Formats: sequence, structure tokens, C-alpha cells
Amino acid sequence: MTLKPLLAALCAAASLSAFAQAPIVIKFSHVVAPDTPKGQAAERFKMLAEKATKGQVKVEVYPNSQLYKDKEELEALQLGAVQMLAPSLAKFGPLGVKEFEAFDLPYIFPTKTALYNVTEGAIGKGLLKKLETKGITGLAYWDNGFKVMSANKPLRAPADFKGLKMRIQASKVLDAQMRALGAAPQVLAFSEVYSALSTGVVDGTENPPSNMYTQKMHEVQKHVTVSNHGYLGYAVIVNKKFWDGLPADIRGALETAMRDATTFEKAIAQRDNDLALEAIRKSGKTEVVNLSAKEQAEWRRVLLPVQTDMEGRIGKDLIQAINREAAK
Ligand code: LMR
Repeated sequence: MTLKPLLAALCAAASLSAFAQAPIVIKFSHVVAPDTPKGQAAERFKMLAEKATKGQVKVEVYPNSQLYKDKEELEALQLGAVQMLAPSLAKFGPLGVKEFEAFDLPYIFPTKTALYNVTEGAIGKGLLKKLETKGITGLAYWDNGFKVMSANKPLRAPADFKGLKMRIQASKVLDAQMRALGAAPQVLAFSEVYSALSTGVVDGTENPPSNMYTQKMHEVQKHVTVSNHGYLGYAVIVNKKFWDGLPADIRGALETAMRDATTFEKAIAQRDNDLALEAIRKSGKTEVVNLSAKEQAEWRRVLLPVQTDMEGRIGKDLIQAINREAAK
């Protein structure tokens, strides 16, 4: 037997084993700090996924918009440049799935239980399904929390917002919410918010305390109002072609890892927001105010009509279905 075919066989074997050993890489990009509910859960998923697949999968987590900012990350996912994201539910409008903006409606979720009735039920699953036409598969909902408002002047009444430039996420519902308060909404990528606040490009913003604190926004905002007027949460999504192309055993192990990371994420979200609000209060840099029942009633009177105003965009049936589910 001449040497040539033997050498060829050896080379082929060598490259096959090299190929077989190369781990499947999941690039998980997000825009928040690592010590947030989402940041910690991404690391937890990494740990669980790599353990469950015995290293056949490698998860690379890129926090703080290291790889992509808000708008770019969704495009990168559709192109397959990254495999996993967990964008805010307020950021799916530009993708053409505006129904997710229902999560931004003022006072739509009176409690976290009401929220879970929706995200863990048929409504939540149905919304994730809508992403498939965009080449995206929705895996889970991750929680953050109810939002506070901030500015360099006290915000106790809707009239206090008059003429303020307020940063929002790319959501038409949040645009309508700020206009209802008499403010001028301004869409900015999350990574640009701190500098826009510190330079006065915008006067104020809204976010759950965990985002406000970890981005040091409170250091450039003299007043925070604990308004809980709206909710911010996430959808964990993957590139559909990538996900469908995974070996079934690997996909199964990743689904289990995602389920466990989601349980972990929901368990820490409220705690982390409470701790962040306390840290903002203790920083001495920001006055934190709670609204009286009378003040809250005035905010509701001004903001609840946004639910009706947005029926044309989001769908009256969906809003009513969410309100029914949330009221259970
Ligand atoms: C924001 O842009 O304010 C948030 O969506 C950031 C995040 O992902 O929590």
C-alpha cells in the first residue's frame, strides 16, 4: 500500500476530530451592566449551558453594549453575527412586532403576579411566536421591574414634566406616555443615556432602579420619583436558523439551562431593584420621593388614556386580553 492514501486518511481523521471538538459558540450580547438582573442571568445561563453540554457549547457574554447598541443588536441577531440577545420588550416595534409595546402601557400590570399571568400564559407565548417570521425564536421572558422617573427637578405632578426632554426607549407607547405628561420624548440608545443626562441633551428619563443605579444615572439626576407607572422586562431570543440547526440533545440541554436561568433571574429581579433604590437613596446625591395616594391618582388620570390611544397600534383585543389576564 503506497503511503499517499494512508497519509490522506490520517489527515482526514485529524481534521474530523478537530472539527468534532470545536465547541458550538453562542455569542450573547446585551446592553446593561453585569451586576443587573439580566447581566447576572446571562452569566448564570453561560454556566449552566456549558456544564449541561460538557463544554460542547461555549457561551460568550458581551454586556454593556460592548458588541452592539440597542438597534444594531437586533440586526446582528437576524444576520447571525450573534446568536442570543435579551432586549427590552420596548424595543421590538422597529422590528415590526409592535404588539410587544403592550408591555409599556402605563399601569397595565398592577402586580408582578399579573405580569406572570401574561408572560407565562397563552398571551406571552403567542407574542413570542410572532417573532418567527423575523427569523427569531423566543425562548423566555426575563424580568426587570417597575420604572421610576428622574430629572433635575422634583416630579410630583404631571404638570412638573411640562417641556422636559425625557429619554425613552424606541417605543411609540412610551412616546405617547411622555407626550401625555407634557414632556418631549427623545429616543436614545441605552449606552448613550448617562452622557445625554450629564450634558443636558435630555433633562430626565425612566428606568427600573437597577438600571439607573448601575449606569450611575442617579449621580446626574437630583430627583427620582418612585412612580411604578410602567414596567420594563425582556424577551430572551435566538437566531432561528442557528437554533433549529442545533443537534437535538444540545438544544434540549440549552432549553433546560434557559429554564433554570429564568427561574434564577425572576428570583433576583425585585430584590436587586429594591437594593438599587436603597443605594440611590443612601448615595445622598438624589432625593427619592414616593407619591401620595392623591398624587398617584393624578398620574393615573393623565396616563391611563394612553391605553385607549394605543389600541389602533397594538390592538384593542390584545390590550383587553392582557387587562383580563392581569385582573385574575
Ligand atoms: C433601556 O434602554 O433603558 C433598557 O431597555 C435597557 C435594558 O436592557 O434594560
